[in-house]
Amino acid sequence: MIDVILGLQWGDEGKGKIVDYFAKGYDIIARFQGGPNAGHTLYVGDKKIVLHQIPSGVFHEKAINLIGNGVVLDPVTLRKECETVAGFGVNLKKNLFIAERTHLILPTHRALDKAAELSKGNEKIGSTLKGIGPAYMDKTGRNGLRVGDIRDKSFISSYIKLRLKHQRLLDTYAFEEDISAWEEEFFEAIELLRDLNIVNGEYFINQKIASGKKVLAEGAQGSMLDIDFGTFPFVTSSNTISAGVCNGLGVAPQQIRDVLGVTKAYCTRVGGGPFPTELHDATGELLRKTGSEFGATTGRPRRCGWIDLVALKFACMINGVTKIIMTKADVLDEFPTLNLCTAYSVGGKTVSEIPFQMTRMKIDPVYEPIAGWNTVSSGLQNGDPLPEKMKNYVAFINNYLGVDIHYISNGPGRDQLLTIK
Ligand code: GDP
Ligand code: IMO
Ligand code: MG
Repeated sequence: MIDVILGLQWGDEGKGKIVDYFAKGYDIIARFQGGPNAGHTLYVGDKKIVLHQIPSGVFHEKAINLIGNGVVLDPVTLRKECETVAGFGVNLKKNLFIAERTHLILPTHRALDKAAELSKGNEKIGSTLKGIGPAYMDKTGRNGLRVGDIRDKSFISSYIKLRLKHQRLLDTYAFEEDISAWEEEFFEAIELLRDLNIVNGEYFINQKIASGKKVLAEGAQGSMLDIDFGTFPFVTSSNTISAGVCNGLGVAPQQIRDVLGVTKAYCTRVGGGPFPTELHDATGELLRKTGSEFGATTGRPRRCGWIDLVALKFACMINGVTKIIMTKADVLDEFPTLNLCTAYSVGGKTVSEIPFQMTRMKIDPVYEPIAGWNTVSSGLQNGDPLPEKMKNYVAFINNYLGVDIHYISNGPGRDQLLTIK
């Protein structure tokens, strides 16, 4: 049995905190896509930790954490993260497993990401520059190197062959940065990787499921960044939606039980691309400040705006969301009025479906205003009654989406999560 936790917006919905919260109820926590472009924040005691590659269940002693084949893995980031996590007394030999089919991010993938972005000028995606796009291109282009390949005697020669290919591409971009230091780090990190548990991920997970173990699949990025269904081309390079769980772990769709979709009580986006409800005014600034909306991976300020129910409904549909978790409700505490986007106005027409492309057209959000709760909600404990106006906000969203909010996160803390259903 597999439950999935994934983001319904443009990433950074608070997945890390939510996975960490629920991890205690599962035997395996598995990442199925994405790579170090992800930045999942959680707290261990009062210590803040941002995970990029390792699943967010790693601080639960009993849980096994699996990096699935659908992930692209940067050994250098992994190595640093392993050191951080081990510093908390976590025994990675016991609880971290990596699928041998997982593709590797090479130093030249990072260089290619940077060179490609630079060449795009104003049209740049706003990539995290972690090499994600080029690594997935090498996977689908059937060139990439996989974790299992590091055991092969021919690994170095395959690496050199691919590097040469990348170099020719880099030359066309006139990319001249010296990446020899990155390569040195890479090969040091490969040595660490050899010492970790490398497994056949699909047999590993299916055998566990067959013996009754419970799996929690942890999504990275968000549904609106999905390569197929996101705001293309301003997306990431993997399938971030629930369908990605099957090919990212090697499991059958009938194993999936709940799909828990995480959304902020408002909306953010980092990087380029369409964002219909973005606020360029003092309200947007207040959301950024109150919500500390700065990227966990790149530190960039996140673009902020009101909740977009058109995009959320679309995300619920393509993911088969069964329960919604609404995070950062406390950030809205001081707003007297809240706006919910219920439709888009495009070229004089009101639409409630996500258009084929959103970049070349002007999209104006149609808002439904609702009174804010205007009380401090961060102190609320499980079982406490919700402020009436917060209940109204929740009811409006449930009614629009046809899927209910089951949990509200009212602060970054590990236990700041209210079960409301
Ligand atoms: P992820 O990528 O989806 O895991 O999200 P990030 O970690 O990138 O960003 C979420 C940020 O919001 C982190 O700094 C969290 O500590 C913080 N956070 C999560 N839930 C809440 C919440 O309910 N309230 C507040 N104020 N902050 C939260
Ligand atoms: P988590 O898992 C928010 C964005 C980048 C850029 C686009 C493509 O923390 O929610 P990429 O590096 O994948 O080529 O960048 O996607 N992006 C994210 N935005 N949260 C993330 O991950 C993201 N991962 C990528 O900003 O716009
Ligand atoms: Mg993040």
